[in-house]
Amino acid sequence: MIKTRFTELFGVDHPIAQGGMMWVGRAELVAAVANAGALGFVTALTQPTPEALTKEIARTRDLTDKPFGVNLTILPSINPPPYAEYRQAIIEAGVKIVETAGHKPQEHVDEFKRNGVKVIHKCTAVRHALSAERMGVDAISIDGFECAGHPGEDDIPGLILIPAAADKVKVPMLASGGFADARGLVAALALGADGVNMGTRFCATAEAPIHDNFKQAMVDADERSTDMIFRTYRNSARVARNAVSQEVRRLEAEGRPFEDVAHLVKGARGLEGLNTGDTDLGIWTAGMVQGLIHDIPTVKDLVERMVAEAEQLIRGRLEGMIETLEARSAAA
Ligand SMILES: Cc1cc2nc3c(=O)[nH]c(=O)nc-3n(C[C@H](O)[C@H](O)[C@H](O)COP(=O)(O)O)c2cc1C
Repeated sequence: MIKTRFTELFGVDHPIAQGGMMWVGRAELVAAVANAGALGFVTALTQPTPEALTKEIARTRDLTDKPFGVNLTILPSINPPPYAEYRQAIIEAGVKIVETAGHKPQEHVDEFKRNGVKVIHKCTAVRHALSAERMGVDAISIDGFECAGHPGEDDIPGLILIPAAADKVKVPMLASGGFADARGLVAALALGADGVNMGTRFCATAEAPIHDNFKQAMVDADERSTDMIFRTYRNSARVARNAVSQEVRRLEAEGRPFEDVAHLVKGARGLEGLNTGDTDLGIWTAGMVQGLIHDIPTVKDLVERMVAEAEQLIRGRLEGMIETLEARSAAA
C-alpha cells in the first residue's frame, strides 16, 4: 500500500484517481474504480438533467459502498447547462467529494465548501492552481500538455509542470496527463505529487462503458496518435487522431471560424460513435498515453498491478541503485 496526503484526505486505499470523463464517467466505471480502492468521479454533464444525475449517483451507490465523487466541468458556452442545479443535485445527494474543472469555479467552490463537500480542482497551469488554492479548494489536480481533453494554451509538459506546481502548491496535488502504469505513478510521487489522475487509461478497461472498438483502437494506437484541435479558437483539445480530427485540423489551417467545424465536433456525433463502435464518426477524447496502453484489463487488475509494481520499483530498482560509500570502498 502507498500512503500519501491524497489517500489520507479522501479516505481511499490507493493514490490513483479517475478524472471526470464525458460519456465515460458513468456508474459502472466509477463504482469499479471505487471498489478497486481508487477514487472515481461520475461526470455530471454526461447526464442530460440534474434529476438524471441524482439517479446516476444512486446507481453508483448501488454498485459500491466505497467513496466516490462527481465531476463538474465548467465550460464557456453560448447556452450553458444549469450549473447551479447540477451543483444542488450533487449536494442534495450527499456526495462528499467533487472534482471541478474549467473556468471560474469560485461560486461552485464556495457553495460546495459551505455544504461540507471536499473539492479537488483540476487545472492546467501553476497560476490557476494557486488561484484555486486561494479559493479554498482541498486539493489540486494538474494536467500537463500530454493530457487528453483540454491542456490549456501554455504547452508545459508534466515533467516541468508537476514539480513547478509542487514547489508552490501547499494542498495535496495529483499529477494528471500521461499516466498509465507504475512507472508514471512512481515518477509523479518523485516529482512532488501525492498521486495520479488518469483518464485515457481507464477508458481501456473492461468496465468502461464504451464500444470495444474504441478500447482496441487505444491498444493499437501509439504515442503519436492524437491531434490537437481548436488551437486557433484558443480552446485547445487533445483528441484521438481520426478522419474527423484531421478534417478539423485542415479547416483550422485554412483559418475557418468555429461555425465551419461545429457540425463535425458535435457531442451527439461523438456519442453515437462511442455507442456504435464507429471510431471515425465524430471526435473522441484520448491522450498521448495511448502509446503506453497494451491491454484491456479489469479496473481492479489495473489498479492492483499499478500499485504492486510501483512498490517493486521503489523497493527494487530505485533503492537498489543507492550505494553507500562503505560498500563502494569495499568493492574497490
Ligand atoms: C474520454 C474522455 C473524456 C473526458 N472528459 C472530461 C470532462 O468532461 N471533464 C474533465 O474535467 N475532464 C475530462 N477529461 C480529462 C480527464 O479527466 C483527465 O484529466 C485526462 O484524461 C488526463 O489525461 P490522460 O488521459 O493522459 O490520463 C476527459 C478525458 C477523456 C479521456
